[in-house]
Amino acid sequence: MNNFIISNLQKLKNKKIQNPEIDLRILLNNSKYTESEIILSNFNLDQINIEHFNSTLNRRLANEPISKIINNKSFWKDDFYVNQFVLDPRPETEAIIEECLNIIKTKDSHIKILDIGTGSGAIAISLAREFNNSHITAIDISDQAIEVAKKNIIDKNLYEKIELKKTTIDHMNGKFDLIVSNPPYLSKQDHENVSIEIKNFEPKIALDGGEDGLNFYREFAKKIPNIMIKDAYLIIEIGEKQFNDCKDIFSYSGLNFLKKVQDLQKKDRIMVFSKL
Ligand SMILES: C[S@@+](CC[C@H](N)C(=O)[O-])C[C@H]1O[C@@H](n2cnc3c(N)ncnc32)[C@H](O)[C@@H]1O
Repeated sequence: MNNFIISNLQKLKNKKIQNPEIDLRILLNNSKYTESEIILSNFNLDQINIEHFNSTLNRRLANEPISKIINNKSFWKDDFYVNQFVLDPRPETEAIIEECLNIIKTKDSHIKILDIGTGSGAIAISLAREFNNSHITAIDISDQAIEVAKKNIIDKNLYEKIELKKTTIDHMNGKFDLIVSNPPYLSKQDHENVSIEIKNFEPKIALDGGEDGLNFYREFAKKIPNIMIKDAYLIIEIGEKQFNDCKDIFSYSGLNFLKKVQDLQKKDRIMVFSKL
C-alpha cells in the first residue's frame, strides 16, 4: 500500500471511524476521474481529484455519515439519493416492505397505499416497485424532504404511480387499503443520547416523537381508522420499548393488533394492525 493510503487510513483510525478501509475506498471512488474501480492495494494518485477527496475525507473525520457525503443509501432493492434533510432509510425499516408482501399476496392487486412521513420516498418507491398496479400517496411535512422524494421518484420513473403531497395526516381524506409509516418516534431523552452521526447529521424533524416519543402514534390513532377501508391494514415502525403503549393506543381507536416483527437484534420494530 502506498503512503497516501496508509496516512489517510491512519487519520480515519485515529478518529475511531468504524470501517476505515471501507470508508476510504468509498471516498476514493467518489473522487475518481476514471471509470474503473479504485482498489486500496493498487492505488495511483492520478486516479483521483485530490481536492474533492480531501474535502470529503474531512467531512468523514467530522463524523458525517458516508451516505450523506456521497448522497446515496441502499434500501430494499434500490439506491436512493439522500441529503441532510432526510433520514437515511434503515435496514430495519425494510421489514415494513416484507410485511406488506406477506399481507397483500397478489402483486398485481389494484391497491391504494398511503405512506406517512415518506422522507427520501424509500418505502413508497419500494412498494410501487413490488405492487405493479398500486397507487401510492406519499406525504411529508418537510418541503426539503418532499424535494428529495420527488428526485427519487423521477429518477426511477415512478411519477405516474406515486402522488407526493406536502401535508400532515390530519389533512388527509380518501380511503386506503394499506397505510404504512415509519414516523419520528424518539423520546426527548432518547434523542439526547443518540450518536453524533445521528444528532448532527439526521434531521430532528425525522426523529422527534415528543416528550415520550409517542406523539405520532396518538395522532395516527385518532385519524387513521377513518381513512382505512374495511379490511385495510396499518403497518408501522416503532421504537424498541413502544410495543405495549402502541398496542394500547391503537386498540382504543378500534384497530385489531395482528402481529409484531422484531429486528435482527431481537428488538420490537414493526407492528401490523387491521381494521375491525
Ligand atoms: C423517521 S422519518 C422516515 C422517513 C422514511 N419514511 C424512512 O423510513 O426512511 C419520518 C419522516 O416524517 C416526516 N414528518 C415529521 N412530522 C410529520 C408530520 N406531522 N406529518 C407528516 N410527516 C412528518 C419527517 O419529515 C420525516 O421525513
